[in-house]
Amino acid sequence: MLVALVLCLVGIVAAQVPIPCTSPPQWEGRVFEINEEQKFSLGGRLSYDSLYHRDRFVEEVDEGGEQNYYDRLSLYDQKIEYVYNFKARNCTRQPLTRPWRDFGIRSTDTSLGESYVGSSAAADTGLLVTMWAGNFTLPSNDTIDFISAWTFRGCIPVSRTSFSPKFGVSHLSFYDVTAGISDPNVFIPHRECLSSEEWAVRNTRFGVSSLKKH
Ligand SMILES: *[C@@H]1O[C@H](CO)[C@@H](O)[C@H](O)[C@H]1NC(C)=O
Ligand SMILES: *[C@@H]1O[C@H](CO)[C@@H](O)[C@H](O)[C@H]1NC(C)=O
Ligand SMILES: *[C@@H]1O[C@H](CO)[C@@H](O)[C@H](O)[C@H]1NC(C)=O
Repeated sequence: MLVALVLCLVGIVAAQVPIPCTSPPQWEGRVFEINEEQKFSLGGRLSYDSLYHRDRFVEEVDEGGEQNYYDRLSLYDQKIEYVYNFKARNCTRQPLTRPWRDFGIRSTDTSLGESYVGSSAAADTGLLVTMWAGNFTLPSNDTIDFISAWTFRGCIPVSRTSFSPKFGVSHLSFYDVTAGISDPNVFIPHRECLSSEEWAVRNTRFGVSSLKKH
């Protein structure tokens, strides 16, 4: 009887092909990334919008021991990035060459199953995550392999570890994620990034009516 029950449970588990969950299309959270080989780390607050392919990142960057602070607005469809430098108090407007990358699970990603971060042995000691492996290719043709985790419930991004021969290993973690965008003005560039004429029409220029929904 027991053997039959165990076999039955094994059968159920084996028959389950994990289905990719769907992440919230817009979210905000704290992000921390470190890359030992590149002597690079950053931390900050990210507003992520996969509906209109844009993100805003208020970040503290450590590049080889030097600390810098930026407010970076990246508009991927318009291929432009506004980078306000808090130290220099100036803004750089630059072409955005990296393509939009969705943080959701893609249909080409491979399931690595589900696991508890922490423990499943007692209540409130663990977090059930779903893990997936995949890769993407940069415009430079370098392929980056990654393993990512999302919460099993809610499909909230938790972490991503990326590796490539050229860039080494990077760890990216997400904390305190909330679904949605709390302030729609977060996708308007820093005041110093716009001329007075552009600032006067910022809502029509950067509002969603001027953007293509994906
Ligand atoms: C901003 O200031 C930094 C440091 O003074 C300088 O190197 C950089 O060229 C400036 N950028 C712009 C866009 O003025
Ligand atoms: C990238 O992932 C795809 C789909 O899983 C796979 O077919 C391909 O071999 C991978 N490419 C590399 C360079 O690992
Ligand atoms: C990347 O590969 C594609 C197709 O193989 C090629 O057309 C393109 O020029 C390559 N890009 C670079 C930057 O090497």
